[in-house]
Amino acid sequence: MTTMEEKPVQTASRLRAESVTLGYPGNIVARSLTVSLPDDAFTAIVGPNACGKSTLLKALARVTGTQQGSVYLDGRAISSYGAKEVARRLGLLAQSATAPEGITVGDLVARGRYPHQTMLRQWSDADERAVNAALAQTGVTDLAARFVDELSGGQRQRVWLAMALAQETSILLLDEPTTFLDLGHQYEILDLCARLHAGGRTIAAVLHDLNQAARYATHVIALAADGTIAAEGPPEEVITAELVDGLFGLPCRIIPDPETGTPMVVPRSRNTVPAAHYS
Ligand SMILES: Nc1ncnc2c1ncn2[C@@H]1O[C@H](COP(=O)(O)OP(=O)(O)O)[C@@H](O)[C@H]1O
Ligand SMILES: [Mg+2]
Repeated sequence: MTTMEEKPVQTASRLRAESVTLGYPGNIVARSLTVSLPDDAFTAIVGPNACGKSTLLKALARVTGTQQGSVYLDGRAISSYGAKEVARRLGLLAQSATAPEGITVGDLVARGRYPHQTMLRQWSDADERAVNAALAQTGVTDLAARFVDELSGGQRQRVWLAMALAQETSILLLDEPTTFLDLGHQYEILDLCARLHAGGRTIAAVLHDLNQAARYATHVIALAADGTIAAEGPPEEVITAELVDGLFGLPCRIIPDPETGTPMVVPRSRNTVPAAHYS
């Protein structure tokens, strides 16, 4: 595990933020933050509510700017790219996206192909294939003709992910991809992320479930409430009882996940309600 102070020479990283100050008018979320997403890693970004995870992801995707410092993509300041150029290299599943009213699932996912289209090359077979593959991978093929605003939260979440997948970018940033999903669908999406990662994509996902993060991620970045990096490194080094208590105020034990051997968080019993209450 490396902390800010003892951080060694930067590892190769196509996407990194260097000494960035992030925030909103009157609200600085992170100061002088330096973050690299290691190439070819599946990075989980974890941290308490409101610590700046979404703000960081949006800055890395250039959805928002930085107050100070710069984000670098493939060795160049991300601000020097055209919008479509950025969107051909990285895709973002935002935490709160709203679909245009009255749009169908198929049409929304097809919008993921926009960065690949030019005046001369409009809709192509490659676009069609990418959209169909993205619908199938996220299990929403049967919903293609439905209106997005008539879907359940979980269905809609998978449709947004399909749109990001249709973009076919080698870097994928996912803000809480499992939120709104039932447990079965959560693991389906995580398995899909793992397959995409094994296929060569660089993935960074904000995850709340530390056990899932430990199982699926190869690299964990833990953000503290003040927007600094509390720890980063392999899950087994980062996810410790001290970290979980420090970041979330949750006394716990860490035991090996019986399925995978990765760290598993078991909260200490608080005994707030007598056991008899349940009988
Ligand atoms: N659009 C916005 N305008 C003003 N403040 C915002 C906006 N979005 C987020 N914030 C604030 O910035 C802080 C970090 O938010 P966010 O990055 O969404 O946290 P997280 O994703 O870690 O829960 C919070 O205090 C939040 O209230
Ligand atoms: Mg968020």
